[in-house]
Amino acid sequence: MPLVLGIETSCDETAAAVVDGDFHVISSVVESSIDQHRAFGGVVPELAGRAHVTTIGPVIRRTLKEAGLDQHYPSIDGIAVTSGPGLIGSLLVGLSAAKALALAWDVPFVAVNHLEGHLFAPLLEQPDLEWPILTLLVSGGHSLIVLQRSLGQHEVLGETIDDAAGEAYDKIARWLGLGYPGGPEIDRLAQTGTAGALKLPVSMTGSDLDLSFSGLKTAVVRATQKHTEVDLADVAASFQAAVCEQLLRKLRAAMQAHEVKGVALAGGVAANSLLRSGVTQLASEFAVVSHLPTMAMCTDNAAMIAAAGLYRLASSGPSGLDLSANPNWQLADVS
Ligand code: KG4
Ligand code: ZN
Repeated sequence: MPLVLGIETSCDETAAAVVDGDFHVISSVVESSIDQHRAFGGVVPELAGRAHVTTIGPVIRRTLKEAGLDQHYPSIDGIAVTSGPGLIGSLLVGLSAAKALALAWDVPFVAVNHLEGHLFAPLLEQPDLEWPILTLLVSGGHSLIVLQRSLGQHEVLGETIDDAAGEAYDKIARWLGLGYPGGPEIDRLAQTGTAGALKLPVSMTGSDLDLSFSGLKTAVVRATQKHTEVDLADVAASFQAAVCEQLLRKLRAAMQAHEVKGVALAGGVAANSLLRSGVTQLASEFAVVSHLPTMAMCTDNAAMIAAAGLYRLASSGPSGLDLSANPNWQLADVS
């Protein structure tokens, strides 16, 4: 049974994991530098990069130890590492570590697209899932609707033309004086608010599957400037309802256009309570299976990178040691 070590350092999480050829997670360690970024209301690339430098070694050693492997010469069969998209300084830390270990241990290494990694996350919790699957991948940096025809065979059906969904959450939370990251804060506040309290537009009502959040963001700013008396919980509930309505409307259109066996959520925004219940409802309406990964699998981790790496090693073979990071690597360009 092959064992792959995954390494992920594209943003503020330093993560490593060991996954076997059946997509079982043997060990998975995630350290985050988020506490260093809170005061700035977003991830500071220089701080994230420096945090990876100090954390990467201990995180890899802990991962190997928890997998019961030798920390100096582990019997693994490959190393998978995120090489993009992400912050260049952060990516280079993980990539350099992966190449050095691949050379030292004489094992192949493979570069993985971070977004493709997210697509493999549901598989780690439901290894028997059936294709095709429609996935809504929504995080702080990306928002895409992806059709997965089979393992590793994906097509981007639509994506945001401006902000990512999580980015919009974070920016609105900042505007409202809430903490960072804003998604969990707004989600929590929204539970006690009234969604219709603030009249907000639902963007992108056309028939394509692209998404947009910047108009909504501006509308929230304008509305709260005009109605200064409005309750914060009502703003949160109205904003959340508008975001989820757009996402679910597009997902519904994608499901009408493509016959699938399942619908999945991925990325940090997949933790959103309204989105999760909306996707569950949509799945039952179309009589398909819903794949809602646990929080640990929604957010950045290295198990999903190891899983995508297992597939890439088998299908395309190892990457060359001359490969560099690609901070703008698009999912549509993965082949
Ligand atoms: O995938 P992730 O951990 O990091 C990347 O962006 O790659 O996603 C983080 C994003 C943040 O923007 C955060 O505000 C958002 O996910 N988020 C949420 C919720 N929990 C996290 N957004 C809405 N509702 C939530 N419950
Ligand atoms: Zn991510």
